[in-house]
Amino acid sequence: MRFLLVGGAGYVGAHVGLHLLRAGHAIALWDDLSTGHRDALPAPFHEGDLHEVGRLSALLQQGFDGVFHFAALSSVGESVRHPLRYWRRNVEGTRALLEAMGRAGNPSLVFSSSAAVYGDPGPTACREDAPLRPTNPYGQTKAAAEAMIRDVPRLRAYSLRYFNAVGADPRGAAGESHREETHLIPLALEAARLGRALPVFGGDFPTRDGSALRDYVHVDDLARAHLLAMEALLAGDPGGALNLGTAEGATVLEVAEAVRAVTGTPLVLEVGPRRAGDPAALVADAALAGARLGWKARWTLTDAVKHAWTWSQHPTHLARMAR
Ligand code: UFG
Repeated sequence: MRFLLVGGAGYVGAHVGLHLLRAGHAIALWDDLSTGHRDALPAPFHEGDLHEVGRLSALLQQGFDGVFHFAALSSVGESVRHPLRYWRRNVEGTRALLEAMGRAGNPSLVFSSSAAVYGDPGPTACREDAPLRPTNPYGQTKAAAEAMIRDVPRLRAYSLRYFNAVGADPRGAAGESHREETHLIPLALEAARLGRALPVFGGDFPTRDGSALRDYVHVDDLARAHLLAMEALLAGDPGGALNLGTAEGATVLEVAEAVRAVTGTPLVLEVGPRRAGDPAALVADAALAGARLGWKARWTLTDAVKHAWTWSQHPTHLARMAR
């Protein structure tokens, strides 16, 4: 089959693209390269903004079986500083894509949503029917885009709520290369490599060791879920919202320990104040993805750290970071 990956030059998009190619499908990418990389995948590349509805629908009319939509701004802190940028890109951008898909008569969509739609749901594993109470503009825009997708008649769509996406392609063909990195694992690996201290944002959370607890899910497991979701939609599944996580949380100190073990470096930690807006714990109940798609995360946190460590030394990653 043939799929369009909107925002396919970014971190999650590139891993989904690899899975699709390895499964024998044809893909094309549409990306504005604001955060992605042109060399992300060996596939036809269309540089463009989501708001170019005419161009996008003309491309979609060339015959795609489905669309994967990854194109979004995704930094919580930046969304607080620049909310309108987030509403434009994540909500208006999604509206434009839906219009283009409608014009082209394309009814199947897998959308990248986020656990940020839940806000601060508490220490127990969070189900999809938990109330959506985002605590920042990023989460608000993902919840709004999900609602818009639900409103479109005849559209079959899965909104996949990623918890903390981590790791890199186990075969070393892709990984995380953000120009402005804010995520824990790449920053911890960088700290280990350079012999720098890693700041720990908060040591007084009500968790087992006082640091914040997250559900780290390997990007390769996320990618597999996207294929399963699209296959289900194409087989007539009406879709819905699904959590993608491991149901097992790790604290910041436990992640630091995994980084020490993988890198063999004595990572120094500097426990400081909490980062504004960070919940104490965010863990997925991913049973619904199991029931609907037969999906379960397979990789562990240590696997994710190992793969990310390998990618952090990959020539492609180093070249991107040097640009
Ligand atoms: N952290 C540190 N030190 C750092 C960086 C992060 O202690 O230098 C902590 C954070 O405070 C947090 C944890 O590590 O407790 C994970 O932080 P990340 O920035 O890696 O990820 P977040 O949990 O903040 O957010 C991620 C995505 C969001 C998504 C959210 C959903 O970036 O887009 O997961 O779970 F909404």
